[in-house]
Amino acid sequence: MKALVVYDSVYGNTEKIAKAIGDAIAPSGEVKVLRAGEASPSELVSIDLLIVGSPTHAGRPVQAVQEFLKKVPELSLKGVKVAAFDTRISKKIVGVFGYAAGRIVDNLKKKGGSLVASPEGFFVTGGEGPLKGGELERAAAWVKGILGAKK
Ligand SMILES: Cc1cc2nc3c(=O)[nH]c(=O)nc-3n(C[C@H](O)[C@H](O)[C@H](O)COP(=O)(O)O)c2cc1C
Repeated sequence: MKALVVYDSVYGNTEKIAKAIGDAIAPSGEVKVLRAGEASPSELVSIDLLIVGSPTHAGRPVQAVQEFLKKVPELSLKGVKVAAFDTRISKKIVGVFGYAAGRIVDNLKKKGGSLVASPEGFFVTGGEGPLKGGELERAAAWVKGILGAKK
């Protein structure tokens, strides 16, 4: 099983979640965790699972993640399992803007990916963080659920 985790992070919280997800995948296969700006479409060749994560900025993924998604060619994710996560502040803002993960998932599905988990959000306690207690563990459990579902 070959997995790729692509993320961006302004204050480091999304990076921590991405790395916790990578660490949780590692015992089950080969995994790379890359910043969106460093991930070229050639990294997508022969992967089984792609997970993309972003901080939520005004309900959307940040620029670097949007640009990565734009570079993913049409239908190139056919046969690839996909999932997305974001970090976010509170449930209150959802009605106004929505969150990054849902938008990432829409894009990954449009590129042909098979969704293996609902878009997930991990909470920070303020704009710059830190992460709420237990979120790294919840991220690890979230991806273990995805790996379990793959069998
Ligand atoms: C410009 C900006 C816009 C933001 N908009 C939202 C938002 O719409 N909803 C939300 O829940 N959090 C919002 N936040 C908080 C971010 O989600 C938070 O900074 C992020 O999760 C931290 O992740 P990072 O440490 O990886 O950058 C915003 C933060 C910034 C800086």
